Amino acid sequence: MNQKVVLITGCSSGIGLALAARIAKDEKKRFMVYATMRNVSKGEALVEAAGRALGRTLEIKQLDVCDEDSIKACVDSLPERRVDILISNAGMGLIGPIECQSIDEMKTVMDTNFFGLVRLLKEVLPDMKRRKKGHIVVISSVMGIQGILFNDVYAASKFAVEGFCESLAVQALRFNLNISLIEPGPVITEFERKVYDEGLKTDLSKADPVTADIFLNIYLKNYKQIFETLGQTAEDVAEHTLKIMTMEDPPFRHQTNTLYTPMTTLKYADPNGDLPIDTFYKMVFEHDKVFNASLNFIKLLCWRSRKSFTIEKDKSN
Ligand SMILES: NC(=O)c1ccc[n+]([C@@H]2O[C@H](COP(=O)([O-])OP(=O)(O)OC[C@H]3O[C@@H](n4cnc5c(N)ncnc54)[C@H](OP(=O)(O)O)[C@@H]3O)[C@@H](O)[C@H]2O)c1
Repeated sequence: MNQKVVLITGCSSGIGLALAARIAKDEKKRFMVYATMRNVSKGEALVEAAGRALGRTLEIKQLDVCDEDSIKACVDSLPERRVDILISNAGMGLIGPIECQSIDEMKTVMDTNFFGLVRLLKEVLPDMKRRKKGHIVVISSVMGIQGILFNDVYAASKFAVEGFCESLAVQALRFNLNISLIEPGPVITEFERKVYDEGLKTDLSKADPVTADIFLNIYLKNYKQIFETLGQTAEDVAEHTLKIMTMEDPPFRHQTNTLYTPMTTLKYADPNGDLPIDTFYKMVFEHDKVFNASLNFIKLLCWRSRKSFTIEKDKSN
């Protein structure tokens, strides 16, 4: 059977875990999945999710995207070093006022989210070019298109990812390779919890009172509600990614959350760049009540559509 070899990073939780399990359980067994994580002792959840696929269409391997040797050792351990589909998923977040963050913290975000991808490609791309075959799928974010309040460094890391991939995509075409950026909006994973908990612990003593107030009483206050309302599940993002991976001619960009698309459209609608910034400003500082009411309205619509879907499903059984 001609199975495609898929290498995924960051599979200990969230999107990477859901994606690895979903692809390994593919009904047609089209893939052999190497699900990697930096600390394999965190593999229990994936083992459980993979079920009978473990040892058949899924193997767990160690890979730290911040460590070139570990990437090389992992790729060297694959039969003929072959990777047909590389999924760069490992990542981390960082929120808060920049005056309260150390340069080292910021460097870790860039090192993981951006240089992690660069290191992977330095190892995998030459073989893909030689074989003139391969698909590089990168879990980016809507924050690779549009910056969001108090996500300055995280958004910068995803912008870096997008600029890097956009430049590389032209060269890749010459070698018959595809690059696809998956751009989720909020996804309910460990990421959301970790980022929020770290945000709560931020030492705001270096921020002026206005900035500290905006962070605590506007940003953090709305954080959970935004995830609850607009948040997708990791499984949902995994389905979107599988669809892109199996397309004959996959797109360069794919946003996974239609509830978020109106926001990113603002970016493309105004070449001056003022429209999204003004809109975000008004939403946060002038129309926060309307913004909250809209979130509640969206929540109600989602609940109703899920409810009618369940009723329709029950009727058809
Ligand atoms: N959740 C969201 O709202 C959201 C939205 C848009 C895009 N994304 C992107 O989606 C991707 C996955 O995030 P998630 O939401 O699934 O978060 P998650 O549950 O926190 O998963 C992140 C994964 O990355 C791994 N990781 C971190 N540093 C690593 C390193 N140096 N080497 C290898 N693995 C490393 C983590 O491993 P450990 O367990 O060892 O820390 C974990 O497995 C990220 O690129 C993120 O930026 C997330």
